[in-house]
Amino acid sequence: MKHIKNQDQEIYDAITNETNRQEDHLELIASENFVSKAVLEADGSILTNKYAEGYPKKRYYGGCEHVDTVETLARERIKELFNVKYANVQAHSGSTANMGAFRALLKHKDKVLGMSLDHGGHLTHGHPLNFSGIDYEFHSYGVSDHDETIDYEAVRKKAHEIKPAMIVAGASAYSREIDFKKFREIADEVNAYLMVDMAHIAGLVAAGLHNNPCEVADIVTSTTHKTLRGPRGGIILTNDKEIYKKINKTIFPGIQGGPLMHIIAAKAVAFKEALSPEFKIYQATVVSNAKALAEELMRLGFKVISGGTDNHLVLVDVKKLTGLTGKDAEEMLERVHITCNKNTVPNDTEKPFITSGIRLGTPALTSRGFDADAMRKVAKLIYDTLMNPNNDFVIDQIKTQVKELTTQFPLYAE
Ligand SMILES: Cc1ncc(COP(=O)(O)O)c(C=O)c1O
Repeated sequence: MKHIKNQDQEIYDAITNETNRQEDHLELIASENFVSKAVLEADGSILTNKYAEGYPKKRYYGGCEHVDTVETLARERIKELFNVKYANVQAHSGSTANMGAFRALLKHKDKVLGMSLDHGGHLTHGHPLNFSGIDYEFHSYGVSDHDETIDYEAVRKKAHEIKPAMIVAGASAYSREIDFKKFREIADEVNAYLMVDMAHIAGLVAAGLHNNPCEVADIVTSTTHKTLRGPRGGIILTNDKEIYKKINKTIFPGIQGGPLMHIIAAKAVAFKEALSPEFKIYQATVVSNAKALAEELMRLGFKVISGGTDNHLVLVDVKKLTGLTGKDAEEMLERVHITCNKNTVPNDTEKPFITSGIRLGTPALTSRGFDADAMRKVAKLIYDTLMNPNNDFVIDQIKTQVKELTTQFPLYAE
């Protein structure tokens, strides 16, 4: 950082402050993680200088021999990781990956069936202000009232009623394992494409802990920066050669220009890490930590949506126990250096900017070395904060305990 320090004090200060924030806070945002130093190095490498429009061996610029090596390695590694035939690693983000997938297979205003946003779906699964909701006619399915898990019979019924060109499975705030085979069956019954957006659970799939959507979906998209613990970015996978050709054309020249070669190098480094035996252990701990967090929160009296979790996240209705909204809870937790996000719960009566719930995830703290005992302590700190929002003495004690935990599990230690 010495060059930034000499040249640009303001940005140096902002990065230093953010480094300290990441070090001093308990990071529970389910879509965030901490990358390795090797990933950080690749991310900050001189590959950022290189233009490489096109694909390996078919570029529109000279001097691409080394970035070709990088992109080919990224592709080969991700294919091995998910046991899939074809991979595009150029998508700049999860949203662009989804745009690429939709544009490869759909026509303007085609019907699509995706998970309702207020039941856990993502913005790119049909929000009216997002390109997805503008370009396509989205319909939604959700979770059942009785157990707050996906009601596959209701999905089937909706699919037969609507006859979508595509069904989208995958979510941003759903804590149960998704049965992709059931989605495939339903898609086949109505002759629809199946796209799976595994952005949140990609790391769990890579570790063999959740069923692999690549076995059944026409297209699988993902981010690389959540459970997968890579740099910010997207990927698109398929086993179908014709679909692969369409995806490549859609990403470049369809919706992107030059690929971010430094990011693709960082993806390749992260994919190599994800192929290691340690990564499987890490992912198993992500899940056992989420289960410990959910169980302790329920023991303390919180309503956890669907009564638990099968993955890396826990959706908590904070309003039922504390009377607080999700927005208030997020702000109060921030005061004691616990970072999370407000989130709607199924059939929420509050507006999306207020909400009745919070979403908590364990990938980031697990990367710091947190175990189930530490996660139970975090649950208690959340409880104490939300039950004593106006008690400065208790709040100060909680801050001290947060400091003890962050010191016990340092982030980028040296
Ligand atoms: C399921 C899902 N898909 C796509 C995305 C979009 O990813 P990005 O923020 O990289 O555009 C997200 C991000 O939160 C997500 O949760």
